Amino acid sequence: MRISMIGTGYVGLVSGTCFSEFGVDVVCVDKDAGKIERLNGGEIPIFEPGLDAMVASNVAGGRLSFTTDLAASVAASDAVFIAVGTPSRRGDGHADLSYVYAAAREIARAMTGYTVVVTKSTVPVGTGREVARIIREERPDADFDVVSNPEFLREGSAIQDFMRPDRVVIGTSSPRAQQVMRQLYRVLYLIETPILFTELETSELIKYAANTFLATKITFINEVADLCEKVGANVHDVARGIGLDNRIGRKFLHAGPGYGGSCFPKDTLALVRTAQECGAPLRIVETVVDINSTRKKAMAGRVLAACGGSLEGKTVAVLGLTFKPNTDDMRDAPSLDIVPALVTAGATVQAFDPEGMAEAKPLLPEITYCEDAYGAMTGADVVVLLTEWNEFRALDLDRAKALLKAPVMVDLRNVYTPADMVAAGFTYSSIGRPA
Ligand code: UGA
Repeated sequence: MRISMIGTGYVGLVSGTCFSEFGVDVVCVDKDAGKIERLNGGEIPIFEPGLDAMVASNVAGGRLSFTTDLAASVAASDAVFIAVGTPSRRGDGHADLSYVYAAAREIARAMTGYTVVVTKSTVPVGTGREVARIIREERPDADFDVVSNPEFLREGSAIQDFMRPDRVVIGTSSPRAQQVMRQLYRVLYLIETPILFTELETSELIKYAANTFLATKITFINEVADLCEKVGANVHDVARGIGLDNRIGRKFLHAGPGYGGSCFPKDTLALVRTAQECGAPLRIVETVVDINSTRKKAMAGRVLAACGGSLEGKTVAVLGLTFKPNTDDMRDAPSLDIVPALVTAGATVQAFDPEGMAEAKPLLPEITYCEDAYGAMTGADVVVLLTEWNEFRALDLDRAKALLKAPVMVDLRNVYTPADMVAAGFTYSSIGRPA
């Protein structure tokens, strides 16, 4: 089997590399010649644990290559995956599909023989049919099927998620296309991964429904955390107490500053818009979107409260800027709401993030970037734990206390235990747990 992966962003690069690990011949295609040159030189443009080694071994094995030549690659492929970006369109929250449709036209012009065209990018319901229409319009003679095959990769554990998924969803009613997809995922049949064949539209909706449900679960526990603070309950124990019920499940019940990242904010918003336009509004999701954006903004208030109601002239140490650990991704990170609010309130911010500082600098230019967590804490009035990187889980608290002007910590990820922090001499606040 031979495939083309159009787009070497996060999804394309991880999926292409993992397919080559499955033994498929993969050519990753991108318009950005500089990026392709760097990839051919062994440089991986994103931070994803394990990806560099997997790219290197599959390139060396001759199963994975990178090119800007879409036409040549598509002409020689059994299947072509569209993994280009679908950012939120400015103004209306809809997914911007112009890159997807442009790719579809280019693919149509280059196809030879029967080709399966697969949408891997997260695309609204109806996009697959439109891709098929565009291909037919461009090439009335083309022999092809369009398949939806959404990804469920989490940044930071994307390789594991691809190689050992909970399920694979494949949207097509064409037996011929199903056969090609079965071949591509052959390795997963061996480990008995559930592979779900559905209609095109159903598969497209599954992706949005999954992300939206997870975002709702997080938002639910975040609101419960606020309630816990009022009634003296502990959200950690509440989450465990409800999560042990298999019908609820334990995952995605970790209270925090609100969800961020390249997927949940964009996908919740896009599904809200689609549902409204179809006359079947998803009011729960509308509320989730609203609560989450309010929540991120409100987090700075917790820092303000920890500093006695004013941040004027205070120095705040911020540990972690990316939307979650093990990524350098800053897209829709809570830090992008919280840090500017701290600065507006009069604080000087000193920050450190293990991987995200290069991405963060142009987005948050008004702060000082430090070499490590201790540098950020030096002379600060309060330390805010914003992203739960492993290295922040085991801070030398005595050293931190000696460096801070005052031993105050606002832990927005519930990394530490309140009793331990009080014993260590800190004034400590977290999310939804008694002080
Ligand atoms: C998410 C989904 O988890 C993936 O299944 C999906 O494939 C991906 O979006 C996508 O559509 O491409 P990702 O955005 O990488 O993956 O990150 P998550 O680990 O899901 O975290 C998203 C946000 O939720 C982060 O800001 C995280 O801090 C927050 N979160 C997550 C919580 O606040 N609490 C939790 O319990 C879990």
